[in-house]
Amino acid sequence: MKIGTPLSPFATKVMLLGAGELGKEVIISFQRLGIEVIAVDRYNNAPGQQVAHRSYVIDMTNESELREVIQKENPDYIVPEIEAINTEFLSEVVSEGQAKVFPSLRAVQLTMNREGIRKLASEELGLPTSNYGFARSCRDLKNLILEKINFPCFVKPTMSSSGKGQSLVRSESEIESAWNYAASGGRVDQGIVIAESLIDFDYEITLLTVRSKDSKGNTCTKFCDPIGHLQENGDYIESFQPQPMSKKALDKSKNIAKLITDALGGLGIFGVELFVKKDDVWFSEVSPRPHDTGMVTMASQTQSEFELHAKAILGLPVDTSLLRPGASKVIYGDHDADEIYFEGVDQALQIPGIDIRLFGKPKSFKKRRMGVILASSDTVKAAINNAKKASSKIKTKIKA
Ligand SMILES: Nc1ncnc2c1ncn2[C@@H]1O[C@H](COP(=O)(O)OP(=O)(O)OP(=O)(O)O)[C@@H](O)[C@H]1O
Ligand SMILES: [Mg+2]
Repeated sequence: MKIGTPLSPFATKVMLLGAGELGKEVIISFQRLGIEVIAVDRYNNAPGQQVAHRSYVIDMTNESELREVIQKENPDYIVPEIEAINTEFLSEVVSEGQAKVFPSLRAVQLTMNREGIRKLASEELGLPTSNYGFARSCRDLKNLILEKINFPCFVKPTMSSSGKGQSLVRSESEIESAWNYAASGGRVDQGIVIAESLIDFDYEITLLTVRSKDSKGNTCTKFCDPIGHLQENGDYIESFQPQPMSKKALDKSKNIAKLITDALGGLGIFGVELFVKKDDVWFSEVSPRPHDTGMVTMASQTQSEFELHAKAILGLPVDTSLLRPGASKVIYGDHDADEIYFEGVDQALQIPGIDIRLFGKPKSFKKRRMGVILASSDTVKAAINNAKKASSKIKTKIKA
């Protein structure tokens, strides 16, 4: 394993496809190891582009635009940070030996679409999931729900994230609007939706699972402590680590995470989303990259999820240990405006154990995630309380 000199002909080059707030932290982790980083996103001045060596603005679903930047930059490692990427072209890049895709091409292909990953998890691996089915028209959806899924159930586009296009359906009269909402909320309009039964869980977790190289060069799997989180309209608002859970539930969670990440393969971090009720665990979905709820690890772990991802990709050893209980709380834009500013950061930082990240996004929306509060303390409860206190100090204002 060799790392070259950035900005020289011997640089080790990483290209991030997607450079949002999670990508920004991954880039910083690579930069700390002397890697040359190229950030690609669909809009200018995306958070990760502000800290990369070079950046490009392209449509990543467009083959010729992707081809042009990959040929121009010739990266050693391609690291997708979003799902909306032309993965057929990435597969050509890999088979022609131009660059490697991380964690693996298979992981990126299967997780870009709820259909691929759900079928792998449930039908091939036999993991417990909600009762589910896919529909390609409103009529199909009606039949599917009435005959197989029942109420209440979730209807979601097969290609979307952060709860976009997702709704909870409680009765037959709500099916049509759920279909229309899902069809308009998907990233790439494929007109395929998933209906899945509601799991009445006690709590939900993200189990960050890292596939990295051990001292003998073999791939090994390590787990971070479970992260608990609260979601509102399919978007995370608060997370904390560790989530207390029974030994049985934790063991089941690790088994599920090991099986699904083994099947996806490669090197890097995965966010395995699980629902837990007493000692029972259901697989929900998995991201082959750092997870938004895992931002808490910047406060709670020896190595954050971003550092773990960067190191694992490079074939370096990783340390997933917890440093101190922690919490994170999302800062929203609260305004639809081109430029906003933040007040009260100084007051928030007076609270012990508080840190803050502002992502530097060029445009604010009411419900756009613009920053995050990080807290660490002696207990999870204290960390959550401090994060809430800090959150109440921060105000977003429209530029005067
Ligand atoms: N079958 C289900 N039973 C109960 N709750 C569910 C179910 N499906 C989704 N949810 C709730 O909605 C949230 C978002 O769902 P999901 O993770 O599938 O969507 P997403 O768009 O990928 O969101 P994200 O990108 O934030 O992970 C879940 O974390 C959970 O709180
Ligand atoms: Mg999710």
